[in-house]
Parts: sequence; structure tokens; C-alpha cells
Amino acid sequence: MSQIERTPKDVARQSSIFIGVMGALATITVLWLAEAFELWAVAIVVGILLEEISYFVIYNAVEKFIDHRIKVLYKTISKIKGGDEPSINMDEDVVETANQDVMEWAEDQIKEITLLRETDSFRKDFIGNLAHELKTPLFNIQGFILTLLEVGLDNPEINRKFLSKAEKNIDRMTGLLEDLDSISKIESGVMTIDPEPVNIVELSNDIVDNLERKAKDANVNLKVRYTEDFIVLCDPQKIEQVLSNLLVNSINYGKDGGKTRVRFYDMGDNILVEVADDGIGIKEEDLLRIYERFYRVDKSRSRHAGGSGLGLAIVKHIVEAHGGNLHVRSTFKEGTTFSFTLKKV
Ligand SMILES: Nc1ncnc2c1ncn2[C@@H]1O[C@H](COP(=O)(O)OP(=O)(O)O)[C@@H](O)[C@H]1O
Ligand SMILES: [Mg+2]
Repeated sequence: MSQIERTPKDVARQSSIFIGVMGALATITVLWLAEAFELWAVAIVVGILLEEISYFVIYNAVEKFIDHRIKVLYKTISKIKGGDEPSINMDEDVVETANQDVMEWAEDQIKEITLLRETDSFRKDFIGNLAHELKTPLFNIQGFILTLLEVGLDNPEINRKFLSKAEKNIDRMTGLLEDLDSISKIESGVMTIDPEPVNIVELSNDIVDNLERKAKDANVNLKVRYTEDFIVLCDPQKIEQVLSNLLVNSINYGKDGGKTRVRFYDMGDNILVEVADDGIGIKEEDLLRIYERFYRVDKSRSRHAGGSGLGLAIVKHIVEAHGGNLHVRSTFKEGTTFSFTLKKV
């Protein structure tokens, strides 16, 4: 980068003045040698003429050069970027402007490449995680079936026990595949939100009823707290997925004899839906990561509970696709509260 900013016009002017002065000096020398020094005024005329002519020639040459060379460069960049045809202003420091544009363009490219690299490594991780997640229940099922074949077939008690264990693992795989289906729909942009007026209190009650059996097994008490009905604009199937994910989490990561409450707050244009539990809680350092795909705080416990680690990633996406926000507050060993907003009708 040049320190002194010179426009093409400056370059032409300065060079032609130099040529003019040199021409005048040369004329004076010739006149002096020819002993016709009294004609010195001719030298000035020659100098001025030379200056004007060379200014014209240099200016045009520079303009042509810039037009050809830099325009080609601009064209290449703008073809990739899809920008406008460039116009060259000779009163500007064209090279510096072009340089800046190229730098800007290069920075954009670097950003894009970094993003692509990240996505790529993310994909590799994703496939690795997925293979692992599928392998575990499959190996379990294989183990149960082998045991049955080898020792248990004649024993009805062992039969039942191992088949029900196998069934649990199949459940886990089905859940994982359903979550994957949601994630892939989200990724490809196929997931559509069809909003309609929904009584969110009623929907929550239905979901809680559906989860009664699971909650009872874990000895967690689920309740919807409300004083009035709230009608929100949302896709009921998707919000059902959100609520049921959050509620199942509150059961899976709840304590024996724990409580989960669903509450609603009127926020003017929005309704805040809150799912609060008094379960195991989440440490601060894990809070930032729970929305990551396949991220689980305690792998061993979650595995036991049968989670895929995809639930919250899906929840976050659905809430945001509704134009809402998902929040979490948690105190380790005391409990967790998830909340999200939905637009009122
Ligand atoms: N209510 C909660 N209480 C404590 N930890 C939770 C709660 N909800 C989610 N988590 C933590 O966040 C992780 C990610 O949750 P999620 O995406 O639903 O995956 P998972 O399939 O493991 O349930 C869980 O593995 C768990 O460690
Ligand atoms: Mg979950």
C-alpha cells in the first residue's frame, strides 16, 4: 500500500510536468549551444506544449490500462459475488480502492471457508455420534437374543425378562430415529410450522396425561398450574413435541418424589410457558452446551434413561421457528426451569 495516495490524474499531471520541464531545459540547452539564447521564450512554449501533450497521452494510457486490468479483476470478483459492473473514477486512488475491495472480498471468502470447514467437521462428529448411538441398543438387543437362544428359551420367566429388555432397547432406537427425522427435517428446511389458535393450557394438560405412566414409574409428580386458559398461535404438533421433550427430561433428570410444574405467564403480546422441576439440575459449565446435538451431561445416567441427546436441539429449533425464545435457569442439585414464549392470538 502506498503511503501517499495518488489518483491516476495526479500521476498523469506530475509526470507530464516533469516531461515539460525536462523538455524546456533541453530546448534551452540546444538554444545555448546554437548560440541563439535570445530565443529562450521558445523553450517555455515547448515546455508547456510538451506538458499538455504528455498529460493527454499519459492520462489516456493510464485510464486504458486501469480500465482493462482492474475492470477484469472487478469483473471476476463481481461475477462470483454477483455484484454490479464496476465504474472507474480517475479522480480516486483506483488501485487502493481496488485493493480494499479485493481485501473485503477475500475476507468474505475466508469466513465462508471457515464456516464450511466447521460444518464439515460437525458432520463428521454427527455421523460418529450417530453410529455410536445406534450401535449401543443394537448390541444390547443382540446380547439379549443370544442369551435367550443359549440358555433361556425354555424358561418363561427369563423369556419375558429378556424380551422386555430387548423391547426397551428397540424403543430407544425408535426414539432416536424419530429425533433424527426431526433434525433432518429441520436441517433441510422441510419442517414447516403451521400456526393455528391453540389452547396451550389444554394442550399441556393432554401431554401431562399422556406421560402419567412414565412419571409414576419414576415417582415424579407432574402438574399443570393455571388460573385461566391462554390461546396462542402455534403449530400444536410441534409444540407438543417441545412440551413433551421438556417434561420427559424433567422426569428423566428428576429425583425420586420430585415435582414438575407447568406454568403460564401473561407477558402482554406473548405467553411465557415454563416447565420447572426440582431434579438433579445442571452445572453452569454444562448449561451452555445442552442444546448441542448428542450432548449429555451425564452419559451413563442418560443412557439408562434412554435419551438421544437430540431433544433440546429440536426443542430450541421449534421454539425459534415460532419466533419465540427458549431460556433455561438451573441450580445444580436443586432443579431446572425451562421457559419459552409463544405469541398470543
Ligand atoms: N430438566 C433437566 N434437568 C437436568 N438436566 C437436564 C434437564 N433437561 C436436560 N438436561 C441435560 O441436558 C442434556 C440434553 O438434553 P436432551 O437434549 O433432551 O437430551 P437427552 O436425550 O439426553 O434427554 C441431558 O442429557 C441432561 O444432561
Ligand atoms: Mg431429552
